[in-house]
Amino acid sequence: MNKSVLLASVLALNALPAVATMPPQAAVCVSCHLPSGLGMPNLAPSIAGMPAPYLATQLQHFKAGERQNALMQPMAMMLDDEGIKATSEWFASLPVTLPDNPAFRGQKALQGMSEGEKLAYQGDWQRDLPSCVACHGPEGVGVGDVFPRLAGQHADYIESQLKAWQSGTRSGDSHGLMAPMANKLTAQEITAVANYFASVEAK
Ligand code: HEC
Ligand code: HEC
Repeated sequence: MNKSVLLASVLALNALPAVATMPPQAAVCVSCHLPSGLGMPNLAPSIAGMPAPYLATQLQHFKAGERQNALMQPMAMMLDDEGIKATSEWFASLPVTLPDNPAFRGQKALQGMSEGEKLAYQGDWQRDLPSCVACHGPEGVGVGDVFPRLAGQHADYIESQLKAWQSGTRSGDSHGLMAPMANKLTAQEITAVANYFASVEAK
């Protein structure tokens, strides 16, 4: 390639909208999480647009064995601190479409809600079970760096995580908030609430 062609293509690239370049450490990750970061059911969760500090913390948890998963632990072990930072920041920069005006609790009609939606929005006071949206935000869009997005997440992944807290293969979250809640859910409720959050779409 001669210099002027090279220069022209560099200029053309610069004219594209700013998309963070994939760091080399993420090359292996996208075989499962996809270059979009949206993952696939029964393969890998959607991590696009999740806050970088949340993703980095989870990678540390895999390394420390606080999260046990045969696919992800070896992946996390390959990353040093720099790799954790680079991959987390890159996945966090990828776009994800979420509802523009997610519904808050008061906007939900109590009648006609599915079992999953009821748990998500009301919880069950008799069992001391708060609503999921109290922490995960309206329609589960996520709040700050600590409460991850559930909206649009693959149902099988949500289920597997609730079961991981029940069986003790996932821990390490600050204040241990999730295990006591997961322990109160029946298998049927887990499926119902997972299907509800997976069905949340941009609107
Ligand atoms: C072989 C497929 C595969 C590859 C390759 C892979 N992952 Fe994963 N990833 C998974 C699976 C499966 C899970 C869910 C694990 C579980 O159930 O705890 C996951 C979970 C995660 C999570 C936690 C998400 C959350 O919402 O808590 C992060 C962060 C993550 N992966 C980052 C990465 C990074 C960074 C790489 C590359 C270094 C990578 N993954 C490579 C399959 C993969
Ligand atoms: C009191 C606050 C709180 C409530 C209520 C709550 N969660 Fe969570 N949840 C958290 C926190 C904090 C995390 C992050 C855990 C971590 O860092 O490992 C989390 C993580 C999760 C994850 C893992 C997401 C991922 O990307 O790996 C799932 C799934 C989940 N919660 C489902 C639920 C469901 C379903 C409900 C309602 C039945 C619920 N949560 C209610 C605080 C809460």
